[in-house]
Amino acid sequence: MAGRGPYAELSEFASWIASKAAADIREAFLGEFEIDTKGRTNLVTEVDERVEEYLFEAVRGEFPDYSILAEEGHEATADTDWLWVIDPLDGTNNFAHGYPMVAVSAAVQYKGKTVVGVVHDAIHDEGFNAVVGGGAWNDKGRLRVSDAKSLIESLVATGFPYDKHESDVDNLGNLCRVAKRVRGIRRGGSAALDLAYVAAGRLDAFWELKLSPWDTAAGTLLVTEAGGVVSRFDGSPFGIYDMDIVAGTPAVYEELKPLLRIDG
Ligand code: IPD
Ligand code: CA
Ligand code: CA
Repeated sequence: MAGRGPYAELSEFASWIASKAAADIREAFLGEFEIDTKGRTNLVTEVDERVEEYLFEAVRGEFPDYSILAEEGHEATADTDWLWVIDPLDGTNNFAHGYPMVAVSAAVQYKGKTVVGVVHDAIHDEGFNAVVGGGAWNDKGRLRVSDAKSLIESLVATGFPYDKHESDVDNLGNLCRVAKRVRGIRRGGSAALDLAYVAAGRLDAFWELKLSPWDTAAGTLLVTEAGGVVSRFDGSPFGIYDMDIVAGTPAVYEELKPLLRIDG
């Protein structure tokens, strides 16, 4: 991992705690655990909460002055330019159903810009990491987006928001338009892993609506450091608090973007 620069230690620490958290998830997978509901289809398990606590304490122990934003209740409060953005378990519905697409996602931002991103596939024990300006990697080597040049030769992924039963902003119009134009569509159930798979060239593009900062903070850095492109549907720069995201190889992204609308 050459060229990791000033963020090398931060990246190593993020990868290390994500792999420990992933091991806990892997151990718990298919076992017994308590499940609660945050919404009609939005679940939370005792494992999400336990893993968040582990990650929170690990980061606080090592970086006591950094702010930490994490899905299951930790809000960024410290007055600092440094922010950790953590999803302890991305793919909770998959986890609850025993479907093996579940990841830990952790990113570090400096002055609003992601400088380190780690996504760890918990079940397959595969870590993906990126450092701004230093590339994206897994344990086999450097990641590059695929060389797909057109939508029709592409495998793409998306997802649907938890409020799809109540809201018309449900991504279904986009799904219908894109489905007619691609080789295949997947709904993996972990946005962080979808983005990691774009970075690794296993998917050619990804789009979704109404994601949260912890879903995208690490994965978007993986994609850009692997030579891909990320933006909002209208082509403007994507920030982790935005509601629409499209990512892909440069050519596939250009063809996909005009098909996408926020209102369906
Ligand atoms: C969810 C997953 C899913 C996406 C949802 C996310 P969670 O995260 O990333 O793929 O479609 O919108 O909320 O709730 O499993 O951490
Ligand atoms: Ca998530
Ligand atoms: Ca989660």
